[in-house]
Amino acid sequence: MMLIMNLWNLSTLLFILPSLINCAVIVNDADIDEQGLYSKSDHVVILTQRNFERRVYGQNHAAVVQFYNSYCGHCRAFAPKFKALSSEIVPWRNIIQLKVIDCSVEENNEICREFEVMAYPSLRYIHEHYVKANGNVGDRIMMTDTGEKLKSHLITKMQTEQSMGRLAFAPKFDIASYTSYAGAVAGVPHDVTYTFLVFENENSTVGSELALDINDYKQIKVKRVYDISELAAVAGLTHFPGLVAVHLSTLQPTPLTPINPTKQNLLRTINTFLKSKQYIFPDRDIPDPEANTNEHSDENNQPKSNTDTVYYSDLEKTLKTSLYTEITRHKILSGEALNALLSYLDVLKTSFPYKTNNLRDFIEDLYNTLQTRMEWSGGDIYDLVKKLENTHAPIFITQLEYIGCKGSQSKYRGYTCGLWTLFHTLTVNAAQKSGTKGPQVLRAMHGYVKHFFGCTECSEHFQAMAARNRLFDVKENDKAVLWLWISHNEVNLRLAGDLTEDPEYPKIQFPSVSKCPECRLARGAWNLPAVYQYLENMYGAANIQEFRKSRSAASAPSPFSNLDIGMLSLLLVLRVWADSLLD
Ligand SMILES: Cc1cc2nc3c(=O)[nH]c(=O)nc-3n(C[C@H](O)[C@H](O)[C@H](O)COP(=O)(O)OP(=O)(O)OC[C@H]3O[C@@H](n4cnc5c(N)ncnc54)[C@H](O)[C@@H]3O)c2cc1C
Ligand SMILES: *[C@@H]1O[C@H](CO)[C@@H](O)[C@H](O)[C@H]1NC(C)=O
Repeated sequence: MMLIMNLWNLSTLLFILPSLINCAVIVNDADIDEQGLYSKSDHVVILTQRNFERRVYGQNHAAVVQFYNSYCGHCRAFAPKFKALSSEIVPWRNIIQLKVIDCSVEENNEICREFEVMAYPSLRYIHEHYVKANGNVGDRIMMTDTGEKLKSHLITKMQTEQSMGRLAFAPKFDIASYTSYAGAVAGVPHDVTYTFLVFENENSTVGSELALDINDYKQIKVKRVYDISELAAVAGLTHFPGLVAVHLSTLQPTPLTPINPTKQNLLRTINTFLKSKQYIFPDRDIPDPEANTNEHSDENNQPKSNTDTVYYSDLEKTLKTSLYTEITRHKILSGEALNALLSYLDVLKTSFPYKTNNLRDFIEDLYNTLQTRMEWSGGDIYDLVKKLENTHAPIFITQLEYIGCKGSQSKYRGYTCGLWTLFHTLTVNAAQKSGTKGPQVLRAMHGYVKHFFGCTECSEHFQAMAARNRLFDVKENDKAVLWLWISHNEVNLRLAGDLTEDPEYPKIQFPSVSKCPECRLARGAWNLPAVYQYLENMYGAANIQEFRKSRSAASAPSPFSNLDIGMLSLLLVLRVWADSLLD
């Protein structure tokens, strides 16, 4: 009997199993809780390839979508501001929502390409009932350095939208002149108890913001009134924005303007007033932007890698991101950008320290195929990369993870570190081979960074530095190695203490005194032959580690930054030296 029962259970299980699998397929287009720099607790909608259509098109609210790269410094710096804004505007959610998509994730590639995102972060306004169509890539919203400015841009945009007939479900943002209270509240629905008149100038966004803040309370409304209108004089207002509550059935006005009429103070005043009238106005915590940086530090129990060791895994991972995600992001690739891609592949072909022929053949095949056409779409390049990966499989031999470039938290290091590592490796390995490919590596790096590197501010800085330090004048292999070293140090100097700096990996003038005492001469000057030797050892093919070194071999980075030599004198040494390098 037992046996029969068990058999029966087993067969029902087998019967149920396929439907469970079907469930998993449905779950597949569900929202995810966390990706890149954001999690759901930040009050943003996390968009991915899987939920994009469902969460962007045909919505009955407007949205701002932020396209970002999780490794881009500006994106990281902007994230806490965006999060603070999104928690602040939670009460606006029926009208507008903030959404984010990480373009450095391979699965999101196609969307970022279709939206023609070429700078990171980028903001696009998506109006309600948006439809999917060619060229429907949202309206560009200017990037700002603060959440406060972004909020006022948003409000201005929403005012414009409403004046064009959209956002009918939002509070009315229009502003007018009145001579009497009766006139001012004439159009207000009868179920409203109090109308708050906000007197301000046409360009002020405070009134609209208040209206949005309290939009979900049916019995109260906000109405904007010109500060220069006659009613302002009637109300005896002398400073603006001014606030007057008007009881709709009695037309009884109550002047409420606080001493310092910021939006927060106005909102508090409204709150206090309504409480005094026993009107149920739920307290909303006024969000504290400071409390909202939401650091989710991932536990890192593993021993720290030796920072001055190059790991093959880092090189593979960087290569994969660059070939699968970055170069495929242009909608159309031709002319200078296509040439930049070909130069990049060309230096990879000749100077990458391959540990297998598969990867080498893959790169060669990719290079040769891309050469056959004058123009490629990003989508076609992606398909080609995938196809050639199959042809030459397996092309990667590591776990494709950052080891040398692993940050103490996921928001630090990673790809940008990998890219430096890759190009140092290429200059050193080019120099160790016959011919003079070194200078070509620098040019390829310049082209790559200009056209493909998804860290927009890095790209701009690097191009400016390349011009200043005369990258295109470098003619020899060893000078290419040293050019990249000194320019990287210039970047390290600029970024020391920056908020993108991983506290566990301080930006130093490389190599550190402790790692290479012989690299320094008296008074902070560099011993160039020793530096060259050091770079050759570190980035040379023979020393690239395939696997993580054992714990005993790993050493923590020096806690002392050797920037205390004095920034100015150091800069001077760098500049003088950079000039002599090119003479
Ligand atoms: C072209 C480029 C431009 C960038 N511009 C900016 C920018 O404008 N703003 C911004 O916020 N971030 C920028 N970044 C990112 C930034 O430089 C770092 O990559 C990031 O902060 C991570 O730092 P990290 O500690 O991993 O070390 P990284 O600076 O990424 O260095 C990686 C590794 O290279 C080695 N190394 C360090 N210095 C040298 C050197 N001088 N010579 C040889 N090897 C060295 C070390 O082992 C180090 O761990 C840029 C990156 C690149 C590739
Ligand atoms: C509002 O902004 C416009 C455009 O910047 C400007 O011309 C106008 O004078 C401003 N109005 C007020 C009252 O400041």
